[in-house]
Amino acid sequence: MLSYRHAFHAGNFADVLKHLILTQILGHLNRKDKAYCCIDTHAGPGDYALDGSYALKNREFDNGIGKLWLRDDLPDSVADYLNIIKQFNATPQLSRYPGSPLLAKQLLRRQDRLLLCELHSTEVQALNKIVKQDKRITVFHADGLKHALGLLPPKERRGLVLIDPSYEIKSDYTRAVETLINMNQRFATGTYALWYPVVERHRNLALERALSTSGMKDVQLFELGLQADSDGHGMTACGVIVVNPPWTLAAEMRRVLPWLADVLGDEGAGFYRIQTLADETAP
Ligand SMILES: C[S@@+](CC[C@H](N)C(=O)[O-])C[C@H]1O[C@@H](n2cnc3c(N)ncnc32)[C@H](O)[C@@H]1O
Repeated sequence: MLSYRHAFHAGNFADVLKHLILTQILGHLNRKDKAYCCIDTHAGPGDYALDGSYALKNREFDNGIGKLWLRDDLPDSVADYLNIIKQFNATPQLSRYPGSPLLAKQLLRRQDRLLLCELHSTEVQALNKIVKQDKRITVFHADGLKHALGLLPPKERRGLVLIDPSYEIKSDYTRAVETLINMNQRFATGTYALWYPVVERHRNLALERALSTSGMKDVQLFELGLQADSDGHGMTACGVIVVNPPWTLAAEMRRVLPWLADVLGDEGAGFYRIQTLADETAP
């Protein structure tokens, strides 16, 4: 029984980090004409009303996109990401936040494909509505980890797999890592972005260890924290682990993450981590 609804969290600091990295990776893929395939294993409903009751319950967007919305000193890549969010808000008021499927749809070109998996039946209905008749996009009402593995390698032999579980069950940590390793064996040249929360740090350390000893090459971690770890008392930080990142990503994150930690962190407590879990020549 799935109870997680991303609408409660839409536009929070975790979405900012994840979607900034997503737009950077797709922007990089867009630099070459050759088609690519983007797979989103945990797509969610795709579109969020920030003036709706779910988002307003805890107003998590206030500590994420809300803190960036009116600033005029954004680093370039954050400005690029924000410009996409602005395309979904007809007025200067921030009232709508696009999820990963809509962000990807916005960046997709005529020749590219977007494959979306979502298990929750209500969310998948919403997702089907945003996709409409777009022939480039396919929605699967399925377990994203299992189903996406079967979609690899894509015929384009170029692309991104975004893995964004809700971590409702603790086994999500190990399942996500095992699936990522299997995916990489099927499609070694693909780029993979795995989002993770920091709630109990020991789980993250185990996840990082599993990835750094997996034999996969070129694995980088980008983490953003709002406050110091507080084992078990909610999400204090989150990160994205990228396998085969675009060569420009680490340098961009080195520019942007200190700025985001400063702007989004709780009263000076923000922090970031950038770490290579496996380099390009890992055995
Ligand atoms: C964090 S949300 C996704 C947010 C979305 N990727 C975004 O960035 O806008 C995770 C989603 O995964 C869905 N989900 C949970 N378990 C799943 C599974 N095994 N396969 C596919 N979707 C799943 C949940 O219903 C939820 O909508």
